Amino acid sequence: MNEARSRQLDQVDKELIRTEKHQRQHAIALESRALETVLTRLEALRKEGGPADASRTLEGEPPMRVLIAYATHEGHTGEIARHLGDTLKGQGLEVTVHDVASGDLEPAPFDRVVLASPVHLGRHQRALVSFIKRHRRALELKETALLSVGGATSAAEHAQDPHRRKRYSRDAQHAVEDLFKTTGWKAGHVEYVAGALLYRRYNWLMRFVMKGIAKSEGLSTDTTKDHDYTNWAALDRFAAELVSEDPPSPS
Ligand SMILES: Cc1cc2nc3c(=O)[nH]c(=O)nc-3n(C[C@H](O)[C@H](O)[C@H](O)COP(=O)(O)O)c2cc1C
Repeated sequence: MNEARSRQLDQVDKELIRTEKHQRQHAIALESRALETVLTRLEALRKEGGPADASRTLEGEPPMRVLIAYATHEGHTGEIARHLGDTLKGQGLEVTVHDVASGDLEPAPFDRVVLASPVHLGRHQRALVSFIKRHRRALELKETALLSVGGATSAAEHAQDPHRRKRYSRDAQHAVEDLFKTTGWKAGHVEYVAGALLYRRYNWLMRFVMKGIAKSEGLSTDTTKDHDYTNWAALDRFAAELVSEDPPSPS
């Protein structure tokens, strides 16, 4: 190789090295600018209340829309639905609390749907079963959760004996399995919620029957008062999970 050719190749080599160096510097600059943007956004989210809080939407994004559709017999599940609704509204979400016995409502426009019903004689409320059957297709496309409210869960949470605890939990699960079988729909998450013994709302016969059941399940037999066994703190934890980036996991 002659001297001129070798000088030429040296020149090309140097040029290549210079270009590579320049490109690397450029890539680093781009990466650090992107990193800076992410850090600025994280800092803004931290000031607003933390990135886990999905209700703090990015600018211009509408808040998450949640439907809480419930059925109730003695009113306690209505209280649970309203409490959950108020908690979620407090976190900036757009919430509709709907009694399914009061008329129909399309779940399609909502981002997440919570269905709530008490268990009576091993079954969830008929009005909720009809709602699910009517809107099964729409529900299948949503993030959904079921609040199954019942005395079996109250008994399970109060039982000292692990065998009894297991038996009552299984009773609560059977009611949910029955609901899924009847409707052909399955909730993304099931939250078992302890119900209430509302002696003052029962007629004399119901009071007598419920006192007997309560006695066998280790719950209060004082019929002069109502007894609320719902774990409201656990319900608030469920609400917090519902607004997080990842909805509550299946249980
Ligand atoms: C007549 C009657 C039958 C019940 N049967 C069951 C049952 O089979 N399983 C259960 O877990 N809870 C049962 N419960 C307890 C209710 O689910 C509980 O009281 C619940 O809080 C009622 O909710 P509501 O006020 O929304 O109707 C029964 C209650 C009554 C009054």
